Amino acid sequence: MSTFLNELHRRRTFAIIAHPDAGKTTLTEKLLLFGGAIQTAGAVKSNKIKKSTVSDFMEIERQRGISVSTSVMGFEYRDLQINILDTPGHEDFAEDTYRTLTAVDSAIVVADVAKGVETQTEKLTKVCRMRDTPIIFFINKLDREGRDGFDLLDEIEQKLGVKICPLSWPIGMGQRFKGVYNLYERKLVLFNPHGKQDEEEIVVFEDLSHPDLEKHIGESAARILREEVETLVTVYPPFDKAAYLRGDICPVFFGSAVNNFGVKELLDCFVDIAPTPRPRETEERLVQPEEDKFSGFVFKIFANMDPRHRDRIAFVRVCSGRFERNKNYRHVRLEREFKFPAPTMFMASKKTLLEEAYPGDVVGLYDSGNFKIGDTLTEGEVLHFKGIPSFSPEQFRYVENADPLKQKQFAKGLDQLMDEGVAQMFVRQSDGRRIIGTVGQLQFEVIQHRLEAEYSAKCRYEPVSLNKACWVSSDDPKALEEFLERRKRDIARDIHGDPVFLAETAWVLQTVQENFPKVQFRFTSEG
Ligand code: G4P
Repeated sequence: MSTFLNELHRRRTFAIIAHPDAGKTTLTEKLLLFGGAIQTAGAVKSNKIKKSTVSDFMEIERQRGISVSTSVMGFEYRDLQINILDTPGHEDFAEDTYRTLTAVDSAIVVADVAKGVETQTEKLTKVCRMRDTPIIFFINKLDREGRDGFDLLDEIEQKLGVKICPLSWPIGMGQRFKGVYNLYERKLVLFNPHGKQDEEEIVVFEDLSHPDLEKHIGESAARILREEVETLVTVYPPFDKAAYLRGDICPVFFGSAVNNFGVKELLDCFVDIAPTPRPRETEERLVQPEEDKFSGFVFKIFANMDPRHRDRIAFVRVCSGRFERNKNYRHVRLEREFKFPAPTMFMASKKTLLEEAYPGDVVGLYDSGNFKIGDTLTEGEVLHFKGIPSFSPEQFRYVENADPLKQKQFAKGLDQLMDEGVAQMFVRQSDGRRIIGTVGQLQFEVIQHRLEAEYSAKCRYEPVSLNKACWVSSDDPKALEEFLERRKRDIARDIHGDPVFLAETAWVLQTVQENFPKVQFRFTSEG
């Protein structure tokens, strides 16, 4: 096999997603320890912004600092190159996470055994489902009392609308936690709460009816395990890798990340089944990773990390071909050639200059303001990668310049923060007023703080009574034109100039939907 194909097939790029506190940071750290990417526990900093520090901007800057350095955490395991793409810990930054999910090939979802499916788990898993991203679940914290395993599996299926396939099963929990039975490899993995951490005893155990089971876990646990596994085998389908890769079934593992228990089983199964870099849709055609010409798209931008420079770092997911340092690439939106003398790989707080990168890799490019999220780079072909939508925001405010002498800085700062995807801005057509839409409260404070710190500009917010912003389109240009004219007062443009309908209430939205049946109202910027 050529080096290129060999490198491509070695890549596994995924994200770990979770509701805050479920154990994402802990699991990431354990995975990195297995791969030798870090040597000590505690090396992966949590990028959570705790609720109590909502207006502590040092905390926001600290979080940005961590986010840039942990954007990709790569390690080698069983001869594979594994790339974990980091996602922000705070739910107000959910949109960042959505975008990162466009750059991965699969995901691991962590849930707390006591809490089950929480709001963020639900939102993020649904985003994966929209794109058929293969998912593995890891139910964490089995060393604590939690919910019944069957209940949890039911909840996952019902709330998330996925079919699941348990590949490991807990033997007790909390004080009575004895380990898991690994159905994927048919072995008992025994937990030793009194032994040293990171110690697990593994017994190959093909046949659960064997009387030796009692010796390992005691009589009552053995009886329960046999019964439960029998139920599992009847209720759930056998594992089917092709169905997992299509996103149709999701394997489930149980364990305790902080005790490093069940993590190796998860990782070993992950490397067996997780997809290699997948093909990606563009508006023009499907791009295969094996193609020899390079293509990639920007899914994340970090700006002004160093106050002395106006530099930004654009993160590009390589989708096909080989990316090379100092080679000319076409920036499709700007119709210009660029070359990058110092492409960087950010790897678990290490930063390295890279000469080349392969599909599945993420390259950090220094940029002086030429990139927006969603931009495509190619070797010349005009391609627009799909699936990097903006989501309809949930909170809205007018934003005004609060310092007349700094109008220019204000406008530039806002534009750049929007390119970075901090929030969305809509300009109302009737009066030219700018409206900021966000998914969380925190972004309003972030914008105000960063305008001041990075652009010496001041902004002021004013309330605006809006319930939803939705993108509008129609197959019938006349119908769209008529709608835009008749509802002029409620139409704004997004940063790409696309028309957006601003609905004051859910009722108004419903009424216009009924009155204008030929117009489509979309809650993401992509249909
Ligand atoms: P997150 O990134 O998903 O937000 O979660 P994180 O890993 O930071 O874990 C949240 C808390 O849950 C941490 O405790 C962590 O130690 C704990 N935790 C993670 N895995 C397990 C587990 O398997 N069992 C138990 N019992 N706890 C677990 P903390 O008190 O918030 O922080 P720390 O001071 O312990 O780091």
